[in-house]
Amino acid sequence: MNILVLGVVDYIGSHTALELVKAGHDVIVADNLVTGFRNAVPKAAKFYHGDIRNAEFLDKLFSSEQIDAVIHFAAFSLVGESVTNPLKYYDNNLCGTKVLLESMVKNNVKKIVFSSTAATYGEPENIPILESDRTCPTNPYGETKLAMEKMFKWTAEAHGLRYVSLRYFNACGADESGTIGEAHNPESHLIPLILQVPNGKREAISIYGTDYDTPDGTCIRDYIHVTDLAQAHILAVQYLLTCSNGTFH
Ligand SMILES: NC(=O)c1ccc[n+]([C@@H]2O[C@H](COP(=O)([O-])OP(=O)(O)OC[C@H]3O[C@@H](n4cnc5c(N)ncnc54)[C@H](O)[C@@H]3O)[C@@H](O)[C@H]2O)c1
Repeated sequence: MNILVLGVVDYIGSHTALELVKAGHDVIVADNLVTGFRNAVPKAAKFYHGDIRNAEFLDKLFSSEQIDAVIHFAAFSLVGESVTNPLKYYDNNLCGTKVLLESMVKNNVKKIVFSSTAATYGEPENIPILESDRTCPTNPYGETKLAMEKMFKWTAEAHGLRYVSLRYFNACGADESGTIGEAHNPESHLIPLILQVPNGKREAISIYGTDYDTPDGTCIRDYIHVTDLAQAHILAVQYLLTCSNGTFH
């Protein structure tokens, strides 16, 4: 199948593109290179350089390639930055997805897997969180992702789009080949920051929080291995390609 991956030169997108190639798909990818590393994209994938807010770019891409399904990672995702600069997040996450959906509808591409986030729930009502729990984001990042989910729902009702939204927690780990992994500049993610200490790039790391209901008072976070997450996206694509109706959160 021809799968388009949007937002591919960074962490989860590059691992997903690699798993798609390994699974024998024809992989087409696009990114505006705002973060990440161009050489993280598998050589077998066909790369387009562009921004999903650019309708002309997307229309050209969809008319040049026969796309069976899209996997959409192209968004901003730093919670703290979203609080200090919310409109940057509304512009990229919401406006970008609006332009993408318009182009997909126009070019008759009807299947999309979307990386949402556990941040759509806000403060959890249950542990573990149930899929059906109330969504009440506590920051603009989670708010834009929830609004994106709703954009998919209404576009599905109006135009027959079929979609899967995956509300995942933190990704971690690296491809077993060691050729790609997690790296940001400046680094803001916990596991790469911790690894900077034994690698001699950082003196020490602070773990915040002392009064959580845990044995040492620090918080407990959920992680999923990035390759497992990549494979979950591929299963979601297969679900959309093989089941004739229904959407899925
Ligand atoms: N990393 C996590 O633990 C985690 C957890 C939950 C959800 N997510 C979501 O998964 C997705 C991928 O996250 P990530 O951690 O790999 O890194 P990331 O958020 O840095 O990757 C985003 C990629 O999209 C590209 N991009 C951004 N805006 C674009 C635009 N307008 N046009 C084209 N390309 C654009 C960037 O260059 C980058 O390659 C994000 O949407 C994020 O919200 C991530």
